[in-house]
Amino acid sequence: MRRLLLLALAVVAAAALWWRRNPSACPYGQRFWVEAPHPLITRARLREALDPQPGERILEVGPGTGYYALPVARWLAPGGTLELLDLQREMLDHTLQRAAEQDVAGIVATQADATRMPYEDASMDAAYLVLVLGEIPDQDAALRELHRVVRPGGRVVVGELLGDPHWVSPATLRRRAEAAGLRYERRLGTAIGSFTRLARG
Ligand SMILES: C[S@@+](CC[C@H](N)C(=O)[O-])C[C@H]1O[C@@H](n2cnc3c(N)ncnc32)[C@H](O)[C@@H]1O
Repeated sequence: MRRLLLLALAVVAAAALWWRRNPSACPYGQRFWVEAPHPLITRARLREALDPQPGERILEVGPGTGYYALPVARWLAPGGTLELLDLQREMLDHTLQRAAEQDVAGIVATQADATRMPYEDASMDAAYLVLVLGEIPDQDAALRELHRVVRPGGRVVVGELLGDPHWVSPATLRRRAEAAGLRYERRLGTAIGSFTRLARG
C-alpha cells in the first residue's frame, strides 16, 4: 500500500514537472480547473490591483471561461471596453455566451497569441492576465507585447497561484517584467497567491 502511494506521488510529481517544462494552453476540455473558485487571487483583489475605471479600454490575456472578464467589463461601464485575447476560440465563445446571458456589454474578443498581439502601440489603458503567463512558451515575448500595447503610465497586473503547474514565482516575474521594460510597483496578496502590479513607464 505504501509503495503504491509513493508510486502515485512520483507519477503526479513527474507529470507536474513535465507540464512545467512543456508550457501549453490549458485545453478547453479541462476548463473545470478555471471554473472553480480562485482562492487568494479573488476578483475583489484584482479590482484593487488593477483599479479599472469607467470608460477605460483594458486588455485581458487568456480569459478562460470569463472568471474575471464579466465583473471587469461591468466595472468599465459606462463607455469602457474589455478586450479579450485568447489562443482558443472556444474559451472566447464561452465567455461571450456567459456575457450575453448576464447582460454584460462592452466586450470585444480576439483569437490570437499573446506573443503577437493584433493591437496598436499604446492602445490600452491597462492589461491583466491571471494563471496565464506560465502557459506561454516565450514569456519574455508576451511581456514585451504587453509593454508595447499599454500606454505610457498604464498598468499591467499579473496573477499567480502556487500549485498551478505553470506557476511563475514572484522573483522570476519581476525579473522578466523589468527586462521587458515594465516597472515593478507592488504585490497584493501572499507568496501563495497574489497579483503583481507593474507600471508601463
Ligand atoms: C489557466 S487558463 C486561465 C483562465 C483565466 N485567466 C482564469 O484565471 O480563470 C489560461 C488561459 O490562457 C490562454 N492562453 C494560454 N496561452 C496563451 C497564449 N500564448 N496566448 C493567448 N492565450 C493563451 C488559454 O487558452 C486559457 O484560456
